[in-house]
Amino acid sequence: MFLKLLGFLSSDMAIDLGTANTLVYVKERGVVLNEPSVVAMIKQNGTTKPYAFGHEAKVMLGRTPSEIDAIRPLKDGVIADFKGSEEMIKHFIHKVHNRRTFTGPLIIVCVPSGSTPVERRAIQEAAESAGAREVYLIEEPMAAAIGAGLPVTEPTGSLIVDIGGGTTEVGVLSLGGIVYSRSVRVGGDLMDDAIISYIRRQHNLLIGESTAERIKKEIGSAMAPKDNRGRHLEIRGRDLVNGLPKEVVLTEYQIAESLADPVHQIVEAVRIALECTPPELSSDIADKGIVLTGGGGLLTNLDKVLSDATRLPVIVAEDPLDCVAKGCGMVLENMKKLKHVLFKQD
Ligand SMILES: Nc1ncnc2c1ncn2[C@@H]1O[C@H](COP(=O)(O)OP(=O)(O)OP(=O)(O)O)[C@@H](O)[C@H]1O
Ligand SMILES: [Mg+2]
Repeated sequence: MFLKLLGFLSSDMAIDLGTANTLVYVKERGVVLNEPSVVAMIKQNGTTKPYAFGHEAKVMLGRTPSEIDAIRPLKDGVIADFKGSEEMIKHFIHKVHNRRTFTGPLIIVCVPSGSTPVERRAIQEAAESAGAREVYLIEEPMAAAIGAGLPVTEPTGSLIVDIGGGTTEVGVLSLGGIVYSRSVRVGGDLMDDAIISYIRRQHNLLIGESTAERIKKEIGSAMAPKDNRGRHLEIRGRDLVNGLPKEVVLTEYQIAESLADPVHQIVEAVRIALECTPPELSSDIADKGIVLTGGGGLLTNLDKVLSDATRLPVIVAEDPLDCVAKGCGMVLENMKKLKHVLFKQD
């Protein structure tokens, strides 16, 4: 009874701590926070303290004076900067947590399936030091599949491919467990880097990460357009020859060319997962197809390229950017039935 009361008073939550975006789902309220995983730290009188978080900090990336440092504390889905991540988690939790309560919340945090025990412990500790009374972890493909509405607890195989900013997670799930998973450190960030180096090589033009991301979202494609041109976009950057601002027009064809390598790596990860899938589950997957989640799943024609390479139907989940947070949230709402998908790192 007392524990029930504690649960009632505190706002238990689930966090999708992503390389690109952090989403927080609060029990009985749904997804209440969705912000870029960015923190800006300021140096003052010899100490460093947080200055801005989320959306506010993202616009500062690449635009800060020397005393401010805007960073993305997660890389490849795991903590690269512990202090930055901890401050960011603390800030987001405090933003959504009911301050009138005196107990810390129970928090579920998702971790990439390919993360090491040390990396998982770092994430768990960051949530604990942010004031959680109890922390559980969940593997990202499991959370993504639950959020995409796949029948993960039934005796049937489901194949989920979650393409985030830092990693692509491929998971074959059945009976509430992960039968096979593969995590490759390829995602939206690597696509942005590929666009930056392509434009540097082809146009002698230097662009920043935010511009590269905008190009990818507006004219990016996993497949070259038939007319060898497709959509186009005018962008600005710094001319590497004379150092001055310069404008160029990019075509969808060029961007598809620049993205060929990361797209190939994603296709290979899915092909290997299929090769490693037990035959009964393979036949379930052949019926139901592959489900894509994560922001990278929105890359134009990626579903088509994957479908051509595997000869399977490929479906992009509804609201792919929210699937992991919603999946963690569904576990939080149905702890009795789904608790076995959670774990703790010791
Ligand atoms: N329309 C789009 N086309 C291509 N990529 C997109 C699109 N929309 C978002 N993205 C990319 O999706 C990525 C973010 O996806 P998501 O929020 O699922 O990642 P994350 O969960 O933060 O990362 P990870 O799971 O790897 O830790 C970014 O790289 C972003 O540029
Ligand atoms: Mg993610």
